[in-house]
Amino acid sequence: MSAVNIEGVSKSFSGLPVVDDFTLNIAEGEFVSILGPSGCGKSTVLNIVAGFTRPTSGTVRVAGREISGPGPDRGICFQQAALFPWLTLIDNVTFGPRARRDFTAQHRERAERLIEEFGLADFARHLPSQLSGGMQQRAAIARVLMNDPAVLLMDEPFSALDAQTRLRMQRFLMRVQAEFGSTILFITHDVDEAVYVSDRVIVMSARPGRVVDELVIGSPKPRTPDFLLSERFLTHKARAFTALESAFADHQL
Ligand SMILES: Nc1ncnc2c1ncn2[C@@H]1O[C@H](COP(=O)(O)OP(=O)(O)OP(=O)(O)O)[C@@H](O)[C@H]1O
Ligand SMILES: [Mg+2]
Repeated sequence: MSAVNIEGVSKSFSGLPVVDDFTLNIAEGEFVSILGPSGCGKSTVLNIVAGFTRPTSGTVRVAGREISGPGPDRGICFQQAALFPWLTLIDNVTFGPRARRDFTAQHRERAERLIEEFGLADFARHLPSQLSGGMQQRAAIARVLMNDPAVLLMDEPFSALDAQTRLRMQRFLMRVQAEFGSTILFITHDVDEAVYVSDRVIVMSARPGRVVDELVIGSPKPRTPDFLLSERFLTHKARAFTALESAFADHQL
């Protein structure tokens, strides 16, 4: 059984087709990126899996269950960490169980362990405004991991970060995948990022978004920045660019 099963999903907004017959299965523990030009429907696919948007046709199953709305089985991270600005880091991380009125000593221990592992221990009682962008994103990831999600849905989570922090966060996310066995659906329009972090990269065409290619990145993980200079990396990168070119074939730009 796939962790995530997106089957023949299409979506139109007021008659405008945005996503066209999109099918994708993600195995448990797999890291899959969707790469595609701006406006091709990447966020729409993610929002459908998140349960924020209903598909016009097709189905989505997470851990075998057809989804009909948002739920804590899907942990969502956006470009902005979206922490509650008035809550300390630890209160943000423990927000899920506290909101469900199910907050136990185990939850607190788990949160403290995550904060420690994520290198945030000295900042547990700081407010989000006192944290760097990378720290805020790590806190947002810790917050969703508290819910033991079946899948992490990440929509360009590192796009707002500077290049150095972004590289560190990419490695960090590969470590999270390895350590927690997380299944990850990751959206990006950055070819290097997609090839660096993913087990598999799905390339989408311009709107209406269709799957135009699929790259299996077999290199062992977690990867180090050396991988970014390797021949294998460049081979994948070249193929991704070719697929993106074909994705634009119908457009004049
Ligand atoms: N709620 C909505 N109502 C109407 N149109 C929408 C809605 N959400 C998205 N769209 C349209 O669907 C298309 C795809 O949008 P989407 O946000 O999925 O693209 P994207 O691939 O994530 O782009 P980007 O890389 O810029 O984030 C766009 O033309 C957008 O205007
Ligand atoms: Mg988007």
